[in-house]
Amino acid sequence: MTNTVLSPIQIGRYQLPNRVIMAPLTRMRATMPGNIPNQLNATYYAQRASAGFILSEAAPISPMAHGYYATPGIHNAQQVDGWKLVTSAVHDAGGKIFCQLWHVGRQSHPDLLPGGALPVAPSALSPLGQAPTAKGMRDRVAARALETNEIPGIVEEYRAAAKNALDAGFDGVEVHAANGYLLEQFLSDGANLRTDQYGGSIENRSRLTLEAVDAVLAVWGRDRVGIRLSPSNTFGNIAHSNRWAQYSHVVAELNKRQLAYIHLVEPRVDGSADKAESADDIALSRFRPLITGDTKIIVAGGHTLQTANQSIADGVGDAVAFGRLFISNPDLPARFAVNAELTPYNRNTFYGGNERGYTDYPFLNQSPAKAAS
Ligand code: FNR
Repeated sequence: MTNTVLSPIQIGRYQLPNRVIMAPLTRMRATMPGNIPNQLNATYYAQRASAGFILSEAAPISPMAHGYYATPGIHNAQQVDGWKLVTSAVHDAGGKIFCQLWHVGRQSHPDLLPGGALPVAPSALSPLGQAPTAKGMRDRVAARALETNEIPGIVEEYRAAAKNALDAGFDGVEVHAANGYLLEQFLSDGANLRTDQYGGSIENRSRLTLEAVDAVLAVWGRDRVGIRLSPSNTFGNIAHSNRWAQYSHVVAELNKRQLAYIHLVEPRVDGSADKAESADDIALSRFRPLITGDTKIIVAGGHTLQTANQSIADGVGDAVAFGRLFISNPDLPARFAVNAELTPYNRNTFYGGNERGYTDYPFLNQSPAKAAS
């Protein structure tokens, strides 16, 4: 029988009831000041516990890793206590949740950083665009290039955050190396102009990502660690001269480590939005021969029930992460099971605010009036 998104699957240590993964979704609703997860966040995640597993919104690994207002950190004791509310609510509801570990690198703004510091990056370039700060949207600025002797400190931040995630009761961690943030800035030869051992060649540009993964593996072991990559991404002003050469190398190196999974973003999305096709795009099917053994592939980006089942049937992905559909359909697997109508999402309430557009989307067979009460 052909597997579908509703078939069970083993990913790393876990036997999952289905392959409908909740994608990581930044919602900017942590308690401020302090960037601390709260009870409302716990309710939101628990509502979505029927996912095969949940990927948390990206969690900044240090004070310098923040790039958006009110994102929940994973770098101090108060934040760990806040995350415990989330992980225990998800576990009580029968679900599993991995923590996505995030350093935004240059995609930040001094207003979001300690002492008004400049964002850090492989090279002193700007990601362009604007950052959401406490005072509204602000133009991003050119970053400060990290000194070579600062990089072990960044790797240590990944390790410490991974340990915090363990203490907070998460079931695993995902290293966020996608969507134009710090690790992808190092991978990209448009963003990384370094001449030390972290730039200049494909191997060197891959080094920080692999060091971060190794630091996290030392805490969690390979059966509870995944990584997210976006090989066709341009979000965050990311350019590559040879995407396939860069990404086939990093994926082959990751495959040696036999992580629980490699999570690949489809070329049709850039960050949180749809993007037009480009000649540079890499079809995710090209990675399948490079990913062997126990490591599973999660694909994400613009999937519907039909395209997700097709991806699994074609052997491109083993499981599929859904983002926007999970925002507005907390019981997405149950809806897929009966091919139910899906509630449309409201983009205006994606980022920031309160329970509106967050915990008030209806469950199946629940009238909208009841959902709102
Ligand atoms: C995202 N996305 C995202 N990706 C990520 O790796 N970490 C994150 O924190 C976020 N945050 C985020 C917030 C919001 C509001 C959206 C809509 C998206 C990207 C997301 O995980 C996913 O890759 C895309 O949304 C495409 O998948 P869908 O939505 O088409 O299923």
